[in-house]
Amino acid sequence: MIPFNRPPYTSNEDRYVLSAMRSEKMSGDGKFGHQCQTWFQEKLGCKKSLLTPSCTQAFDMAAILLDIQPDDEVIMPSFTFVSTANAFVLRGAKIVFVDIRRDTMNIDEKLIEAAITPKTRAIAPVHYAGVACEMEAIMDIANRHGLSVIEDAAQGMMSTYKNRALGTFGQMAAYSFHETKNFTSGGEGGLLIINDERYIQRAEIVREKGTNRSLFFRGMVDKYSWVDVGSSYLPSEIQAAYLWGQLEWADKITQSRVVTWKHYYEELSALAQAGRIEIPEIPAD
Ligand SMILES: Cc1ncc(COP(=O)(O)O)c(C=O)c1O
Repeated sequence: MIPFNRPPYTSNEDRYVLSAMRSEKMSGDGKFGHQCQTWFQEKLGCKKSLLTPSCTQAFDMAAILLDIQPDDEVIMPSFTFVSTANAFVLRGAKIVFVDIRRDTMNIDEKLIEAAITPKTRAIAPVHYAGVACEMEAIMDIANRHGLSVIEDAAQGMMSTYKNRALGTFGQMAAYSFHETKNFTSGGEGGLLIINDERYIQRAEIVREKGTNRSLFFRGMVDKYSWVDVGSSYLPSEIQAAYLWGQLEWADKITQSRVVTWKHYYEELSALAQAGRIEIPEIPAD
C-alpha cells in the first residue's frame, strides 16, 4: 500500500512545542509566531505575512479585505480544492470557473479574458502541486482590467516563477500547512501573504476579531477596541512552534520531497513514453 502522504518531521518540533507550552504564552503571535512570520517575509520577499489556522481561513480574510459583495464575480480554475471558492461563495459572490491547461493542470491564462464581465472583481489562480501559473500573463490581464489577484499557493511553498516566490505576485496569497503539504504546523495551519500595503493594517484588525489589539501590543493605542468586522484568525503558539521546527529545515524538507518526486517521475516516465498515461509538465520557469 502506498501512503497518500507522510507529513514531514524533523524532531525539532518536539522541543519547540514543549518550549511554547512551558512559556505559558500559548495564544497567537508569540515568539514562534513572530519568528515564522519574519522568516516568510525574508524568504519569500513579501510585505507582510500573517499565520492563520488554515489556508481556507487565509482565503476568508482575503475575501473580507477585498470587500467582496453579493453578485461580485471571481474567476478561478475549474480544477482546484474547494477552499479557493468557499471564501468568496460565503460572501455571496459568483464563481466563474475557467478551464485548465492540459500540460500543467493550472488555469489556462488564455481563457481568462473571455470570462471577465463588468461584475468581475478578482482572479484566484491556483499553483496546483506547486507548479506556477503563468503569472506574468495573469497579472497583465488583472492590471488592464483593474482586478485583484489572490494566489492560491497552498501547495506552493518554496516554489518559484521566474525566480520569484509563488504568492508574491498578486495583492494577496494563501499558503497551507495542512499535514498533506510540504510543511506543516502540526496538522492544520495556513498563511496569508500581503503584497499590497494598503491591506496590511486592516488585515491585522480582521485577524484579531475586528479589534485593534495588534496596535495596542505595539503601544500605538492605550486600549484596544472593536473597530471593524473580523473573526478569530490566529493560530496558537503551539502550531507556530511546530512550524518553526520545519522552517529551520526548509531546504532539507524540500530536497527530500524532490527526491520522492523524482522517483515517481522516473518510474512513471516509461508508462508515459508508451502512451499509457500523461504526466503533467513543469515549465522551465
Ligand atoms: C489548492 C488548495 N487550496 C486550499 C487548500 C486548503 O488548505 P487548508 O486545509 O490549509 O485550509 C488546499 C488544501 O488541500 C489546497 O490544496
